[in-house]
Amino acid sequence: MDKAITTKILPATTEAIAEAAMVLKAGGLVAMPTETVYGLAADAFNGKAVEGIFKAKGRPQDNPLIVHISKVEQLLLVAREIPQEAHQLAAAFWPGPLTIVLPRVSCLPQQVCAGLDSVGVRLPAHSGARQLIDEAGVPLAAPSANLSGSPSPTTALHVYQDLKGRIPLVLDGGNCPVGVESTVLSLTSRPTILRPGFITKDELEAVLGQRVHLAASLDQPPEEGLVPESPGMKYRHYAPKADITLLSGEFTQFKSWVEAQGQGTGVYALCFEDEPALLPVPAVTYGSQQDSASQAAGLYAALRRLDELGAKIVYARSPGVDGVGLAVRNRLLRAAAFREIVL
Ligand code: TXA
Ligand code: MG
Repeated sequence: MDKAITTKILPATTEAIAEAAMVLKAGGLVAMPTETVYGLAADAFNGKAVEGIFKAKGRPQDNPLIVHISKVEQLLLVAREIPQEAHQLAAAFWPGPLTIVLPRVSCLPQQVCAGLDSVGVRLPAHSGARQLIDEAGVPLAAPSANLSGSPSPTTALHVYQDLKGRIPLVLDGGNCPVGVESTVLSLTSRPTILRPGFITKDELEAVLGQRVHLAASLDQPPEEGLVPESPGMKYRHYAPKADITLLSGEFTQFKSWVEAQGQGTGVYALCFEDEPALLPVPAVTYGSQQDSASQAAGLYAALRRLDELGAKIVYARSPGVDGVGLAVRNRLLRAAAFREIVL
């Protein structure tokens, strides 16, 4: 960073959104609330401003950004081919946590798409985000507003903790209700989920009336030299400072396993509500076992909490894979650097 700047947090009122839009029009960066996680926004058509996003986050240059629009018609500004499937999906899931990858227009700055011939587009449900896009008058490129490698932010305070001194303004729109990033679906060839999210494979298939594929790289550690379909999936990501091990099995098996490891400084469990009192080590919870949406909503705050507590070794309960559970598991597997034990 060149020099530290003062970072303001303002509730996302009409006045604050107008101020944020001025910052964006001048080529600056603003953190904005969305229903999934907070985003770090810049004018998608200002290459220099977009470069600033990579700098502020410490993000690898080869990881493309999602472009956020406020109206379906704005798809035409960024995508050059819009298949019927995109219209069907937009009608069913937008505004909402779905990113659609389409062939891009050539006038979009290279920095947004990291040299790819496609662009990821999303119309967010959070009214603060849509108002900001409207006020700024341009689509906004925005990755999650965390430092690269740390868990995505689901509160304005998380953003502040990561990016203070690096960006001028955080719009506070409350806690993000979804809590994990959008589903990324590519329509550049057969429909393929590049990143699972709140919108599930079943829901996509029901609307499209055809099979939706899962990218091969989803739940596997990245192979040396392999180019994944979604560049972002190759990084460890979402990672707290502790070493996490994901443990799949029943609670009783988990409990026995943790007991066998013994207590120690910095040893924690990451488990579901109602379970901490039954465990021999201190624990942080992420939602209820029966409710994967609550797990999604709580996961990133739980990972950040483990950091605050100084956790060094974390034994994590594995989520189910039904519905949004697949997305929760995908994020946890990466946080655990793919270390998983089946009990
Ligand atoms: O919910 C979300 O999607 C949040 C909020 C702020 O909208 N944004 C977000 O952005 O999660 P980011 O940059 O953290 O993740 C973007 C993901 C990465 O995995 C990236 O590789 C993928 O989307 N992506 C973006 N454009 C792509 C493209 N043209 N082709 C393939 N993957 C793409
Ligand atoms: Mg991210």
